Amino acid sequence: MQDPKTYFIRTYGCQMNELDTEIMAGQLQKRGLTPIEDEESADLLIFNTCSIRDLAERKVMGKLGRMGRGQKKNGIIGVTGCMAMAKKNSLFRKFPHLDFVVGTNNITDLGTVLDEVLYTKKQVYKTEDRFEENLDYLVAKRDNKIKAYVSIIRGCDKFCTYCVVPYTRGQEVSRPPESIIEECKKLVDAGYKEITLLGQNVNSYGKDKKEWNCLFHDLLYKLDKIPGMERIRFMTSHPIDITVELMQAIRDLPSLCNLVHFPIQAGSSRILKKMHRIYTKEQYLEKVDLLRSIVPNVSLGTDIIVGFPTETEAEFQETYDVMKQIRYSLAFIYAYSPRKGTPAMRWKDDIPEEVKQDRLQRLMELQEEISAEERNTLLDHTLEVLVERFNKDGRMLKGRTRCWKKVIFEGDESMIGTLQQVKIHSFSHQTLVGELAKPLQGLRVI
Ligand code: SAH
Ligand code: SF4
Ligand code: F3S
Repeated sequence: MQDPKTYFIRTYGCQMNELDTEIMAGQLQKRGLTPIEDEESADLLIFNTCSIRDLAERKVMGKLGRMGRGQKKNGIIGVTGCMAMAKKNSLFRKFPHLDFVVGTNNITDLGTVLDEVLYTKKQVYKTEDRFEENLDYLVAKRDNKIKAYVSIIRGCDKFCTYCVVPYTRGQEVSRPPESIIEECKKLVDAGYKEITLLGQNVNSYGKDKKEWNCLFHDLLYKLDKIPGMERIRFMTSHPIDITVELMQAIRDLPSLCNLVHFPIQAGSSRILKKMHRIYTKEQYLEKVDLLRSIVPNVSLGTDIIVGFPTETEAEFQETYDVMKQIRYSLAFIYAYSPRKGTPAMRWKDDIPEEVKQDRLQRLMELQEEISAEERNTLLDHTLEVLVERFNKDGRMLKGRTRCWKKVIFEGDESMIGTLQQVKIHSFSHQTLVGELAKPLQGLRVI
């Protein structure tokens, strides 16, 4: 086995995994490796995996199996991410050709694990349950030069009964504010226009480190002050922890975008209780009312799970009605997938797949109706667009509004990476179509 010269990382799962990939890429490049496009000829191939639903795991398992059988294996193969935590060294039994397994809390150790593999020629794994704050975030190699993810808190202490994350990412550990501010300043200086703060539950930020005296909204006030900071987003917020101070920050801080991802998961209080979401439908609706009264132009996003064990048609209907009532701008809807090691595994997965799919379909149709109506209300409005790149046709520019709507308009290459005011005149499918508008005083920014 030779010291690898090239690498390829395949990423599955959420934004946190994407960021972890960027950090690993940075570590590998510091070690002298270069990234290549062809995964099969890479000297080092890493699968940065996700365990959130069965399908996510099956995709990687299939790929790893094929690597062992037919496809030639020249280099080193490793598994990182949430599946590394969920399956640990049992992966070696199933995939004897696998060289290492590195868990979500051991990204810092990637280099030493690699050395050990090279030196001992044995399978090596490192999967600690607790995250120690020793990660060099600044090493991250980002492909995107306009938008960046920044991790502010890792892990989750909420233990929703269906979810693997508290087991695959460990307990909540906040990152020191100075470290976050330093990274954000560097990103802004390097020309980044949008920063998304990441955490499984960003609203818990700072609660594990009382001595810092810096809760999530305090952090936002500090970040907003960074000269040149244009846009800040964050995800995800657990509804139970959203505070009035955070709502006021969304209203008052110019850089904060007004789309709040605020997952309800289900509309029935009985199901919510069984999910251990620690709020009832009524409490959730009260939070939404309060948020909307403090930030009238706020857009809301959600995640929803259909077909949770014992969910009746009437309970599903409650989810449907809540979605109709709240009118989310964005909804990610999933069919329940039982996960090993979670409390919900003790209940029978009793909703047939066809029923789950039917419920999923009905919610998707409803969401499409709501989104279409929302698009209509945006006609003739002038919106701020962060221009990211050319659209697929290579002619129109493409970007996103503060509330995450996709917009295309005609412009030139020099506008990529800038903020432009675009007047919406029509739409094509889900995308808003507009034309450049001259910045006006007293503009309504949506
Ligand atoms: N921390 C975030 C999201 C974590 S995972 C939050 O709490 O909002 C992203 C989404 O995947 C969850 O919001 C949930 O809707 C979905 N999900 C998690 N476990 C799942 C499971 N076992 N089956 C189906 N969907 C699941
Ligand atoms: Fe999973 Fe719940 Fe934690 Fe979100 S809050 S990561 S759904 S346990
Ligand atoms: Fe998947 Fe882990 Fe993210 S399970 S969704 S990669 S936190």
